[in-house]
Amino acid sequence: MTAWRRDGLSVALVPTMGALHEGHLTLMRLARREADRVVASIFVNPAQFGPGEDFERYPRTEAADVAKLASAGVEAAFAPSPREMYPEGFATRVHIDRLGDVLCGAHRPGHFDGMALIVVKLLLSALPDVAIFGEKDYQQLQIIRRFTADLNIPVRILGGPIEREADGLALSSRNRYLTPEQRRVAVTLPDALRAARDAVRAGGDPAAASAKARDAILAAGFDSVDYVEIRDPATLDLVTAPGRPARVFGAARLGGTRLIDNWAV
Ligand code: PAF
Repeated sequence: MTAWRRDGLSVALVPTMGALHEGHLTLMRLARREADRVVASIFVNPAQFGPGEDFERYPRTEAADVAKLASAGVEAAFAPSPREMYPEGFATRVHIDRLGDVLCGAHRPGHFDGMALIVVKLLLSALPDVAIFGEKDYQQLQIIRRFTADLNIPVRILGGPIEREADGLALSSRNRYLTPEQRRVAVTLPDALRAARDAVRAGGDPAAASAKARDAILAAGFDSVDYVEIRDPATLDLVTAPGRPARVFGAARLGGTRLIDNWAV
């Protein structure tokens, strides 16, 4: 990367936790258009998983990932070990107020601090011109925009579109946890959030639209709903009246699997 920079070539970084799917490859292709060289990182970051979450069983498919990256024309893959990223004596934390406290932040304590910590480390290791993150983790994307600005990290942050299955389920490495029956139920999450989006677009009350989506998700067979909320896309403040910039966010649990999704209003 140092040699690329010396030669005046621009660099894009796409951080991932591996288990790559078409959604990741879309980000790689976007990176390809944005910079002369593309670097992807693969690191299942222990700091962003809470106790009882799926860190141990998170799919690790490194050989297949590296092959996919090569066929997507990615020039370099960086797959550090936990020891390299968190050496003996590591004691630093990164915390983001407000944006990190709502939505997933309210249900996964410490998750965004752990995510921010590793993204800061990856950005400072690669010093890319641009870094690309998927909009499925829309809150994560907004948090990354916030802390890179706050910490004067000289990088352009770009969001990539959500890729979906033919029936609308957002692609996620965690979809592979679903049984065939759960997979049939799972599509209710994007369907219900999209219905809420349509209701708010048509001038409906955001709180009523959220409540209706929550009911539909539970009625379809999800075990619980962490949240369905309609929030401002930049500040993530709750939107209480129609006609404002908004995004519908949802997270729900099906068996041991937690799925998230969102739609722009
Ligand atoms: O979105 C992810 O896959 C992860 O949160 C990220 C950004 C790679 C940090 O570990």
